[in-house]
This record gives sequence, C-alpha cells and structure tokens, in this order.
Amino acid sequence: MPSHDVLIIGAGLAGQRAALAAAEAGASVAILSKVHPVRSHSVAAAGGMNAAIALDDDWTSHAYDTVKGSDFLGDQDAIEIMCSEAPAEVMHLEHIGVTFYRNETGHLDLRAFGGASKKRTAYVADITGQAILHVLYEQLMRHHETVDRFEEWFVTSLILDDDGGCAGAVARDIRSGDMQVFNAKSVILASGGAGQCYKPTTNALICTADGIAQAYAVGAPLMDMEMVQYHPTTLAENGFLITEGARGEGAQLLNSEGRRFMEDTAPNKMELASRDVVSRAEQIEINEGRGVGPDGQGIYLDITVVPRKRVLEALREIVNIGRDFAGTDITREPIVIRPGQHYIMGGVKTDTDGATPITGLYAAGEVACVSVHGGNRLGANSLLDTLIFGRRAGEHAARRATNIPPPSTRDSRLREDVARIDTIIARERGGRRVSAIKDELGTMMNQKVAVFRDEDGLQEARETILRLKEEAEVAAIDDRGTVFNQDVLGAIELGYLLDCAQATVVAAIERKESRGAQFRTDYPDRDDEEWLKHIDLTRGEDGDPEVSYSEVTITQWQPEVRKY
Ligand code: FUM
Repeated sequence: MPSHDVLIIGAGLAGQRAALAAAEAGASVAILSKVHPVRSHSVAAAGGMNAAIALDDDWTSHAYDTVKGSDFLGDQDAIEIMCSEAPAEVMHLEHIGVTFYRNETGHLDLRAFGGASKKRTAYVADITGQAILHVLYEQLMRHHETVDRFEEWFVTSLILDDDGGCAGAVARDIRSGDMQVFNAKSVILASGGAGQCYKPTTNALICTADGIAQAYAVGAPLMDMEMVQYHPTTLAENGFLITEGARGEGAQLLNSEGRRFMEDTAPNKMELASRDVVSRAEQIEINEGRGVGPDGQGIYLDITVVPRKRVLEALREIVNIGRDFAGTDITREPIVIRPGQHYIMGGVKTDTDGATPITGLYAAGEVACVSVHGGNRLGANSLLDTLIFGRRAGEHAARRATNIPPPSTRDSRLREDVARIDTIIARERGGRRVSAIKDELGTMMNQKVAVFRDEDGLQEARETILRLKEEAEVAAIDDRGTVFNQDVLGAIELGYLLDCAQATVVAAIERKESRGAQFRTDYPDRDDEEWLKHIDLTRGEDGDPEVSYSEVTITQWQPEVRKY
C-alpha cells in the first residue's frame, strides 16, 4: 500500500502548486489524477490571473473589488490574503518560466477584466492556464525523488481513521481496474469543480464534483453551494468559453437592435461589470425578445472593434474556436454568445490554510470554498485562488505531516468500494442509461437553477434530482471489463453530480434573497439583515443535506449598494 506524508487528489493548478509547496517543505508526496495532469481543466483557463503589480495599483484595491464582486458574501480575511500574496505569486511563476506577455517597456503587460477598477490581469495570450500548468508540471519533475505521480487513477472514497481524521483514499487504476488504498498523513483535495451538473457548461467532461461529493460523504461541510457562476460569453452553439479577455481588449455586447445594452445596467463599467451583472443583463435582453441568432437566444459579441493584429496575438484561441465551432471569423464579424455555466463559487468549506473541519483533510481550488468568491467570482481570480490556496494547503499539510506518525488505515473501505463497483458492473441491462440521466440533470439545472431562479422552479429541480438519484442507483452500463472501463466511472461520477446538484438546489431554496449569482425573481432584493451569512450543508443521517449557517468575515469593507 503506497504511503506518503501528503496525498494530493487532482493535478490541475491547485494540485500541482500544492505538490510543489509540499515537496519544497520536505514532504513525501503522491499526486493522483484521473486524467494526465496537463489535461486537467485548469488548461482551459483563458484570460489571465489578477495581481496588483502595476505601480499605481495596490492590493487593497484588488481586495475591495473582489469583496464588491462577491456581493459582500466573500470572507474578507481570505480575500486579503489572496490579494496581498498575488504579486509575489505572479513573480514566482514568471521566475520559474511562465511566459507572461510583456509591454513595449519590457514590463509585464496587464489587461482589463470584469469588476476590476484597474488593469491588473497578467496573461499569456488566451491560454494562461495552459501556460502555467505546463510550467508547474516541468517544475515538479525536479522533485521526482519525493513526488510520486499516479496518472489516470480515479478516487472512489476518502478513508477516515478511528478518530474521524482523514487517513488516505481508495483509488482505481483506470488502465487496469486494480484498486488500492493510498495511505497519507494529510490529504489535499484539488479535484476541481462540478460544471457537468449543467448542460451546456464551459467545463471539461472531467468536472464531475468528485472531491465535493467525496468530502461531503465523510462529513465535511459544503458552503455557498447556491452560488453558480454563469459566464457572460459562451458560444451559443455549445457553451465553449469565449474569454472575458475579449471584452478586456474592448469587445462590445450588442442586442438585436445593435445597441450596447450594458449602458442601461452598468453605465460606468459597461461590458466589464462583474459577471453576474452582465449575464443577467444579457438574459433580460434575450427574455424580452432582443436576442440574436437563429432562435433569438443569443447576444452579439463584437470583437471587430479590437485591432485585428491585437486579436491575432492576444486572443488567438478564440479566433480558432470561432472559426472551428461557429464558422465565424471573429476579426471580421460579431459572434453569437450567451450566458453559460462556468464556475461554482461554493465547495468544501476550508480555512485560509485549506484545512477542512475533518482533521488531515484539506481542499484547494474550485473544489474548495474559502470563501474568496462569495456570491460571484471576478474573472481572473480563479487561477489566483488555485495558486495561492494550493500553495498554502501544500505548506500546511506538509508541516502537519512532519509531526505525526503514518496513519493505520483499514482496508474495509477498499473492500466496500470493490463490491460497489462489482454491483454496478453486474446491473441488469434495461434501466435508463447513465448518459441519459446526466443529460436530463444538466438540461434541467440549466433551466431551473440558472441566472434567474424562483421557488417553484427550484422545488421542481429538487424533486427531479430525487427521482434521478433513484434511477441512477439502477442505471445500466455496457462495459463489463476492467481496462479503461469509463462506463463504470461514469456511473460513479453521476452519483457525485447528483449529490452536488442536490446541495446546490437545497441551498438555493434556502437563500430567500438575491445576491451575486443567486437571483430569485420571487425575492429580488439583497437582504443583509437576514442573509449576510453563509449557508453550510452537511450530509444528514438520511443522506439529505442539513442546513446551518456561518458568519461572513468582515475586516474593513461594510456592505454597500453594488453599482458598476
Ligand atoms: O473568461 C475567461 O478568460 C475566464 C477566466 C476566469 O474564469 O477566470
């Protein structure tokens, strides 16, 4: 049985940054990922990473913008840490080889992003996540003696010891079907978000809420789960991300009348208001009949106002996406976009070192909720979140591991997981297919738990999820083999998605106000008296979420009316 000081589950930016920090602190590390690390979803992060590095900028301005962007639900102690540590993190990445774009004076160039009062987004064209991910992968190779990689291993459960602390995980080698226990003194979940609860989404097929559901299953609380971000510019055809960097470079949003409707909602920031504000404004245009495209369900993003040379050098990925997936040359004509699911602000509740209330269990990146994003994340704060809190979790988990003996894990959990998989494989054919249940879930969430929500729709969503959970218990799969059996993994992932979607809907029903990404048409106002608090969910005895509340940490910025 492999045994390490620190086991990291997930090898995107949070996981690899955590691994680097833990290895540099002298820990033995295992990093385990269900895909090859450079295919992690961080590779899709496009537009950049925020840091107050300009001479006329200041991290407190970044922090204030983040607090305001969060609609005052973000915890300000965590936001202060993230924003004050951001400049050093960008410099560190630069020094280890990330080729951030530079300006004509040779300094790092910065682009504008939504909700920011200054240009503070460092970037590599529109492939920033990919650029950072590859450099971290290379850097980790230097630690090959202390960092063991387990690529294409799928975690089925976290393991608790007799005292209720986390002592490792059970995982399946996707290539062979072998199952093993991974023993560790500290475990860091860095397995990303849950975008596949929605259809369409900008998220990769691998974003199936694994870490959220695994932590929840062993009693860790989830927080802010109702806060689901719709990105204002996703390709109307299929939900692919069209980076906010386009609007940062000057692109405009137009309705069917050719009007820049953002002047009604956000006259100061226009297209660069925060994402919840822009997505709602777009949806109103669509709902009121001023949408574009064949079904009127889109909005024009006009990038032709940006000089062509600049588009080709700084937005080259979306040039390719426009051409390949919409048949549009974005340098010559507007492209049809719409708001689409992009990110979840909620996740496994942690402190500012990534520690969860379960001893030895940490979480960082999109799987976690620190909460730096509160009700709405600012664009280009997610790469920052993964790197700052990935590093902090790695350091803290390594420090913890130096002071304790290796845990003794029982393999009863392994036997249970092997039996669970055997049962899935042995199911009678004839039930609904996993993919059909997943499609119904995603489509339903995109209708009822989207930019606008109300009690009736949310209650329908809750009931649908309960029915889908029953159907998922008996959903048939075709592949009965052991080698690359993605069918069986899909069935397990569906269970993770349904747990996560249920938590999202329960929290959205609970929060009877509108704040950030949660807009309740039946409670259209923000209500600080009653709802300036986090909603925490833990798994109850009957398997359903139990609700409690926790305070929002306010250090220096009192809630105020949010205008852009
Ligand atoms: O639009 C984008 O480039 C996405 C960035 C982000 O979500 O932070």
